[in-house]
Amino acid sequence: MNKRTLCITLLTLLSFSHLHAAELTLELGNGSQRLSSAQLLAHPQAQTIEISDDVSYKRNMHYRAVPLAALLEGVQPGDHLQLLASDGFAAELSAAPALSQTGSQAWLAIEDPEQPWPTLGNGKPSAGPFYLVWQNPGASQIGPEQWPFQLATIRKLAPVTQRFPQLLPAADASPAVQAGFVQYQKNCMACHRLNGAGDSQFGPDLNIPHNPTEYFSGDFLTRYIRDPQSLRRWPQGKMPGFNEALLSRTELANLLDYLSHMAGRKTAIE
Ligand code: HEC
Repeated sequence: MNKRTLCITLLTLLSFSHLHAAELTLELGNGSQRLSSAQLLAHPQAQTIEISDDVSYKRNMHYRAVPLAALLEGVQPGDHLQLLASDGFAAELSAAPALSQTGSQAWLAIEDPEQPWPTLGNGKPSAGPFYLVWQNPGASQIGPEQWPFQLATIRKLAPVTQRFPQLLPAADASPAVQAGFVQYQKNCMACHRLNGAGDSQFGPDLNIPHNPTEYFSGDFLTRYIRDPQSLRRWPQGKMPGFNEALLSRTELANLLDYLSHMAGRKTAIE
């Protein structure tokens, strides 16, 4: 093999491996850092963990994982984090449960390209290359929307209320509306925008041009949130249902109060 051919072969190999090398981006307020799967798998705190009742795979799973806290250098419990997935899902998370040594334990699971994880269903990719999983999620009220898979970026950002004042209820709104806003941030914001506000591109805007409380009659909106496919059945539907364990009756009632309150607070976009 002459030098030139060798060179081209090496370049081809390099670009090929580049296609397969996944990277996680960390933006924690001190510039941007990229970590490859190989670097993360070699992290001194990497270990094999068991996750019972995995939210995405719906069964017990084992992963090579690093405690999320080990990657969050300089992040304080009062800080706010956003976890962006490659499909447009954007989970909002206060840093406290991610850093805490008690209660729920957050882990960054890393897919080893040599031992790929199962797919998330027929024709779908796996939850990798990076996936945020929790041990004992109930202890810190961690819901399914705080398990972002196909994770690409973790950023430290200002809290939601500062970044998106268009989401705020009126200052004199009832406690139920305020409580509903908390549920909105926890359960809906990872996929939806409202008044154009939010970083997700996954589902439709829930206020503009119309708020679902304006066009769902009777209890159809409740039924839709509990089980979207009970109202509109189609194979490509991506919205998950929220049962009573995830969203109690009171929490759902508060969420609907928040949504109808926001119908009266539309902001003009465009
Ligand atoms: C994992 C992403 C995801 C989450 C979380 C989510 N949604 Fe959705 N939602 C979607 C998608 C995607 C659609 C479009 C239909 C589909 O693909 O299922 C949708 C559709 C809807 C619709 C129907 C809009 C219409 O008129 O067709 C409503 C109402 C809705 N979502 C409300 C909510 C509320 C309220 C929450 C929080 C409790 C929520 N969604 C949480 C992804 C999500």
